[in-house]
Amino acid sequence: MIELNVKAGHAHQQCDDAVVLPLLEERKLTESGKALQEATAKVLPNFLKKFDCMGKFGSSRTLYDVEGTDTQRVMLLGVGDEKKLSLHKLRVLASKAARKLDRSGARDVSLFLTELNVDGASLADKVQAIAEGVELGLYRFDKYQHKKDDQHRDLRLVSIMVPSKADLEQSEAALKRARAVSAGTNFARDLSNEPGNVCTPEFLGDQAAALTHAKLNVTVMDKAAIEAAGFDALLAVNQGSAKEPRFIILDYKGGKEGAAPVALVGKGLTFDAGGISIKPGAQMDEMKFDMCGSASVLGIFKAITAMNLPINVLGLIPSTENLLGSAAYKPGDILVGYKKDITIEIQNTDAEGRIILSDALAYAVDQKPAEIIDFATLTGACVVALGAHATGLLGTGEKLKQDLKVSGDHTYDRVWELPMHEEYQEQIKSDIADIRNIGGRDAGTITAACFLSRFVGDVPWAHLDIAGTAWNMKGNEISAKGGTGAGVRLIVDYLARKVS
Ligand code: BES
Ligand code: MN
Ligand code: ZN
Repeated sequence: MIELNVKAGHAHQQCDDAVVLPLLEERKLTESGKALQEATAKVLPNFLKKFDCMGKFGSSRTLYDVEGTDTQRVMLLGVGDEKKLSLHKLRVLASKAARKLDRSGARDVSLFLTELNVDGASLADKVQAIAEGVELGLYRFDKYQHKKDDQHRDLRLVSIMVPSKADLEQSEAALKRARAVSAGTNFARDLSNEPGNVCTPEFLGDQAAALTHAKLNVTVMDKAAIEAAGFDALLAVNQGSAKEPRFIILDYKGGKEGAAPVALVGKGLTFDAGGISIKPGAQMDEMKFDMCGSASVLGIFKAITAMNLPINVLGLIPSTENLLGSAAYKPGDILVGYKKDITIEIQNTDAEGRIILSDALAYAVDQKPAEIIDFATLTGACVVALGAHATGLLGTGEKLKQDLKVSGDHTYDRVWELPMHEEYQEQIKSDIADIRNIGGRDAGTITAACFLSRFVGDVPWAHLDIAGTAWNMKGNEISAKGGTGAGVRLIVDYLARKVS
């Protein structure tokens, strides 16, 4: 486990294993670099010229045993054009530095990055982004490997340097938020990365029940309870699986008594083979990630309870596998789920996410929430439309969607809206029932959302299709290969803004 703290002080006085100093383009040092230069034998300018360090964003060079310092290493971290910096670039820089130092065998390091100017960002924003970069960038999921990829002594303590002692209080508060958000994100990643034979509906229920907070109440419904409650759509999808389903309810009452909660609904499909409408074999293993929506919801609860956010939040997770057992639901079947006045014709058993979500959304409406946000790896079409860099955003809550866009841009856990014009609803009309569970080839992400819209009543609702963002088999600047924890930073920021 990595430890993070905030400190004020000069670079040449740090006795860590490494100090990290920014290098702007054209070899320009920032304040801490200039101060180090003054305090030492002025080796930096020579070094910079000799080794052709130009300060390109993300590049780095390390000097050892610089005379006049107490540190083993001085890492010059290229940050490029300061005018082009953003909070996310700061997050990426911190991640890059932490990853590099972690592999170097350094244990205690200090980062002089808050002195960089970022348009519109406060010091607290910068501290939070840097801390998140460290925690998210260092995340690994290697518990199943006896021989780790690269062996080294792990980084142990990262100090985020701030300009003065007077800045410490607000910086510590920012660090605390970063710790909570990162722990929530990395928890979501852990759940996502577990294989389907480990991460079953029962496992998800156990993981939810293990979240503890004085104001959090978790109920895990087993199959008998699900039958009694009438979640028949969830049960239909579960028919093809030998494993029991679960319906998880997380009730966090951090806010005023009686205040309507924000409802968060997450798709917890622990393995999606497609059912009788079976998927092709290529990359089917990735369908263990079809529970990433539920992982996001659980990650968000982990974060908001750690932060003691003063808000009421209701979490709902329908969970099952989608397999092909002899009792499996079939194309042509007509179902009635928890919402009794809608009949659903199944035309493709692989469009199962919307089926299990329909029960959770209809149940959410009965709890009279202020708004509903759902998270689901719902459509391959969303991956085609938006790729890996933005989550699909659809829904009926106009203010809710606007606020989510603001949080998406601020946290770089980005969303992009797709339309839900009423004409699209035509595509899910059924000849034999009220609606059908597929809407044809065109606009697949939108017609999936149209299906969900039938179950949310008048409650302001936003749907997040995280099919392209929830996992990444290549990894990225702040996420290892596998689950990314998409949606956690977004929603924690969204909820925090509501109560600030
Ligand atoms: N879990 C999948 C969606 C998915 C596919 C997410 C690939 C990420 C990558 C979902 O249950 C599904 O199978 N959707 C179908 C719907 C279709 C049958 C209308 C899809 O997108 O192909
Ligand atoms: Mn499917
Ligand atoms: Zn699915």
